[in-house]
Amino acid sequence: MCGIIGVTGEADAVPLLLGGLHQLEYRGYDSAGVALVADGAIWRARAAGGTDSVAKLGELTAGAPNGHAAAIGHTRWATHGSPTEENAHPHTDCTGRLALIHNGIIENHAELRAELEASGHTLASDTDTEVMAHLIEAQMAGGASLPDATRTVLGRLRGSFSVAVISADEPDTIVAACRLTPLVLGLHDGMTLLASDIPALIGHTRRVFTLADDQLAVLTPGALTVTTLDGEPVEPVERAITWDVEAAQKGGYEDFMSKEIEEQPVAVRDTLLDRRGAGGELILDEMRLGADELRDIDKVFIVACGTSYHAALVAKYAIEHWVKLPTEVDIASEFRYRDPVLNERTLCVGVSQSGETLDTAEAMREAARLGAKVLAVSNVVDSSMARAADGVLYTRAGPEIGVASTKTHLAQILALELLGLYLAQLLGTQPAAAIDGVFDHMERLPDLVADTLRRADDVDDVAAKLTDARDFFFLGRHVGFPVALEGALKLKELAYLRAEGYPAGELKHGPIALIEPGTVVVAIATRNRLWEKMLSNVAEVRSRGATMVLLAEDGDEETAAAADHVLWVPPTDPLLSPVVGVVPLQQLAYRLARLHGHDPDRPRNLAKTVTVE
Ligand code: AGP
Repeated sequence: MCGIIGVTGEADAVPLLLGGLHQLEYRGYDSAGVALVADGAIWRARAAGGTDSVAKLGELTAGAPNGHAAAIGHTRWATHGSPTEENAHPHTDCTGRLALIHNGIIENHAELRAELEASGHTLASDTDTEVMAHLIEAQMAGGASLPDATRTVLGRLRGSFSVAVISADEPDTIVAACRLTPLVLGLHDGMTLLASDIPALIGHTRRVFTLADDQLAVLTPGALTVTTLDGEPVEPVERAITWDVEAAQKGGYEDFMSKEIEEQPVAVRDTLLDRRGAGGELILDEMRLGADELRDIDKVFIVACGTSYHAALVAKYAIEHWVKLPTEVDIASEFRYRDPVLNERTLCVGVSQSGETLDTAEAMREAARLGAKVLAVSNVVDSSMARAADGVLYTRAGPEIGVASTKTHLAQILALELLGLYLAQLLGTQPAAAIDGVFDHMERLPDLVADTLRRADDVDDVAAKLTDARDFFFLGRHVGFPVALEGALKLKELAYLRAEGYPAGELKHGPIALIEPGTVVVAIATRNRLWEKMLSNVAEVRSRGATMVLLAEDGDEETAAAADHVLWVPPTDPLLSPVVGVVPLQQLAYRLARLHGHDPDRPRNLAKTVTVE
């Protein structure tokens, strides 16, 4: 996730761009850059420097030219290519007369790059983005205008983009377009603006328009025209803005957590983008670990903490089922102080949203010391774990600000399951058709998560009936067990309520003694292979007076009949079901936290990144 901003018709564009980039830093800050048209040429400055990128860019642009011409700026959250200055946006073409910024992922960048290189273009970065600049260059060399050239090129792209392009040949014009990532446009008093998000515009205008997928906008000073990618004129949709800047950073949501919960369909979709080759085979290019190294492994060890540990537990079921490799999952702080048995044929996977959690980092270091191949699954590009490991697989959830992990959890489950499918392909433990089938189900998950999110009012109704409850059990079996653990953790950390996550079959071996009238039992009763046994476990606790909240698949009246309250979810492949099932549990914890008067973004005693033992 990156942030983009642009303006035309403003005399002093660079301070406006820098201010906007500061507002967009929550979308990433691996590097930052600006480009503008001045004196018939493109002037560009870029800085790579982690949290200081925009500040460094401020120093670099101190002597930037003024004018009313087109100017664009970008703050980057790296996906393709490490966070260096060469990979920082804006990218230019071979002539240096065109500059372009992009948020999103171009899935067919490899084939387009090969085509460009074969026809003599020299690409200066490792990014997927740069191909667009050279493709537009080629169209303009053939006589096309900047809008027409951009329109033609966008028609060739697979993946997601919000993009803005300027050219020294059309000095006042910015051409912008989007597909699957947001872009907003603004008009004010002779100047026209664009940005990834409203906070970057709000200090300059209240006249804000949203661009829909596959629409293209041409911005000139004080004017805006919008067409479809086919060139059909479109009336831009104006949005009424009543927010102040702080509210706008939360996108109009009450807090970051609810915003991040709503961003989950995009996090899931982005984590899946660009994972298949032309022949449909899975490719995990960024991983750095070669096929030969992975073919050799005979055991998988996953180490993690908290919510990341729960994602790892889901992956254990999937990897053992698809790959038939023994897969152990360990809490990182325990792993490093026992004598884990691993060697050079072990793949140790460390899972961490931040990529900085000390316990997980040390567990990975211990695994490396014992000779294992070490892979990091991290949401932060170039995190210390990503750098230290032999390989890395990035979740692409975008920056997560709320202390409670939500969208990164879904992305972690997906990334680990992708790893499982990839190993199955590599080791030949599943036929290609079966792998295709699972991937097809994965691709439907963003819609299913979005569908689940639309039912938030139903979850709120359930939460309202549980406001007085103090004791919760979350029960699950098979992949429902880690979902139960995650539901309980969310309730503890956000609503400060006692909540135990338990494998339902284990309850009768002790904890059932705690069940009494007033205890709330939330049971994951979706139709995995242990569903019938789950219903028996539900009957055991129900008969002891517990209030039953059942997570059930749409239309499953048999399960609903055993419930006092039902949280309905759409069905999917059972091994993927945690991606959908955990969503109402996040919402339940969020709503109970609010009902108890707690701030979900800043739970007491907790920190987003835990760098102590
Ligand atoms: C969960 O909501 C917490 N944020 C916490 O359990 C977290 O998952 C844990 O501290 C691990 O963090 P990491 O993923 O950054 O390593």
